[in-house]
Amino acid sequence: MYGVRLDGLGKSIPNLDITNEYLATMVETSDEWIQTRTGIKSRRIAVEESTTSLAINAAKQALENSGLEPKDIELVIVATVSPDMAMPSTACVVAENLQIENAICFDLTAACSGFIYASEVATSFIKLGNYKNALVIGAEVLSKMVDWQDRGTCILFADGAGAAIYKRSDENNIIGFSNKSDGKGSQLIRLANIPHSNSFSKAEEVERHIQMDGQAVYKFATTAVPKNIIELLEKENYRLEDVDWFVLHQANARIIDSVAKRLKVSLDKFFMNVSEYGNTSAASIPIALYDAKHLFKKGDKIILSGFGAGLTWGSMLLIWG
Ligand code: UT7
Repeated sequence: MYGVRLDGLGKSIPNLDITNEYLATMVETSDEWIQTRTGIKSRRIAVEESTTSLAINAAKQALENSGLEPKDIELVIVATVSPDMAMPSTACVVAENLQIENAICFDLTAACSGFIYASEVATSFIKLGNYKNALVIGAEVLSKMVDWQDRGTCILFADGAGAAIYKRSDENNIIGFSNKSDGKGSQLIRLANIPHSNSFSKAEEVERHIQMDGQAVYKFATTAVPKNIIELLEKENYRLEDVDWFVLHQANARIIDSVAKRLKVSLDKFFMNVSEYGNTSAASIPIALYDAKHLFKKGDKIILSGFGAGLTWGSMLLIWG
């Protein structure tokens, strides 16, 4: 088995900044309600940008920061639930734009857990020796998937991309994963934005926007995530006290606060940027990692955790450096 390290991060966000105050002119809500219930103050919304262009820009930056050349990348995975096209995959178009010619490329759908799932796939392949270096991207334009009349969802979801490079290395810094799914919760967050009829069947009425049972998802996240973190640490023989930083999916500041309380860990160890960017699904963890990287010291143990539609959830333990 080979070692793997994370080396190279990138981030790309749309230019348009939409504040809570602005949203309050569109739906019946208020800055006070949104901040109190979610911690979100504003979010970035794609106008000129697309899922593909955000993914390309984040990937370009990650590649530059990794010191690798496009020819060194042998695997590209884009985690997304909002691709611009069903085919080709976003990953193939990213590779074309960055002149990555020696890689297999595909998209992966695991909603807000997508970056953690894709990281397990990529780092497992590297450990097995199948590929040397991988580019993993989380990219979303959820603003085109929400109903802008639905105040339960349009205040939460937003757009952006983050990217990471995983390299084969003598030293192993990717300690382990605990990824989970439970299809019993499949109806709690849904997005049916695909054609639903053909010449031989009647067109069904389909709700094309994101549908979410917010309270049920909240309960799931605040119970499943702390349990999952403990399970991962036990599996890898680490203690909660060994962890220097927690970078969770940025869905809601109250969820992060609740996870910290359940784990009895100081909230100071939990990085948060949800106030600026809202919930960018698969992009939120790599964007948060990018924004938090100045805080990390070599040797820091970091837990990353994602949770969302599927239901899916999962955590990853890595050592910085
Ligand atoms: O990426 C992973 C996927 N998603 C999540 O992690 C989301 C998890 N869930 C949540 O973050 C929270 O459930 C929400 C932020 C979505 C909602 O917060 P909540 O505290 O669970 O509110 P609620 O749905 O229980 O609604 C409370 C009240 C309701 O009014 P009544 O029935 O008490 O009169 C809602 O109609 O707040 C109302 N409401 C709003 N009011 C102002 C719902 N959305 C809004 C809004 N502005 N935007």
